[in-house]
Amino acid sequence: MKLAVWDPDEPFRRWRDALVQHALEIGLAIDVIDASAQPDAQADFALVWKPPTDWLQGQMGLRAVFNLGAGVDAIAPQLHRLHPGVPLIRLEDAGMGRQMADYVAEGVLHAYRRMPDYAAQQARQRWESLPLPPRASFTVGFLGLGQMGAAAARRVAAMDFPIHACSRSGQSRQSHAGLAGLSCPIFPLERLDTFLAQTRVLVVLLPLTADTRGLLDYAALSRLPQGAHLINASRGAVIDQADLLDLLHGGQLASALLDVFASEPLPAGDPLWSHPRVRITPHVAAQTLVGPSAAQVMRKIAAIERGEQPGGVVDMRLGY
Ligand code: GLV
Repeated sequence: MKLAVWDPDEPFRRWRDALVQHALEIGLAIDVIDASAQPDAQADFALVWKPPTDWLQGQMGLRAVFNLGAGVDAIAPQLHRLHPGVPLIRLEDAGMGRQMADYVAEGVLHAYRRMPDYAAQQARQRWESLPLPPRASFTVGFLGLGQMGAAAARRVAAMDFPIHACSRSGQSRQSHAGLAGLSCPIFPLERLDTFLAQTRVLVVLLPLTADTRGLLDYAALSRLPQGAHLINASRGAVIDQADLLDLLHGGQLASALLDVFASEPLPAGDPLWSHPRVRITPHVAAQTLVGPSAAQVMRKIAAIERGEQPGGVVDMRLGY
């Protein structure tokens, strides 16, 4: 069976070595193709991160496409148009949940311990202690409760902060096992305003779909209490960046930790770069790990070979 890999972020041999090793372990014979070096070679399965349209279009025998990340917005519409019926399968955690939990935990503690205020004091060489908010009132709200959201929410709950969540359906898409250890109020998206009004730190982990693009605009973000904090580690286009800047300037938002942007890399000169209450990371909150991802993809291919449906198949109507 032939597997094509298209990943501009990782040397091909790393994927090839890991895939071959895991295929051997489960007794599958595979041939791994470097899609950028042999664009015309046809594959049964493709492992991709943002592949070019003409390459995808030229692949006529695909049985399934694996997205080498959690978010599928960059490939789902394209694949659906070019190869309707070919399943798109995303990575399920594969070591990303823990990274996301680390990232969000750091952001929550930074906000809770008033680090943005101390940074402002430091800039003025000012030595003054500030009161901490009562922990029980410092509610962290998770917008999006898929695998990344649930992993981060579990960590923040374990740090003794009150948490709640808001998701499309008002439920997590995960199995109950995946949510083990997490019990919190979950609002449906229709009650976003109520959820936001009770949120001191908003953690955005929504997929980017037609429904979520621009969801957090001025009106929505203004529902947050005065002085709330924002963490976005899913997709930049969920938030209106100009509105976000306005709310930061006005003090409605006390800080933002941003890993993702409507346009990446964030363009030079963008006012977010230099805002004193914004911290920026270059889309690194949860990175694809070659070893665990290759193992997961090979397990899923083995399931497909047995005629089973693997986990993580994207619902093209929902776009995630
Ligand atoms: C990264 O953004 C991912 O979707 O995995």
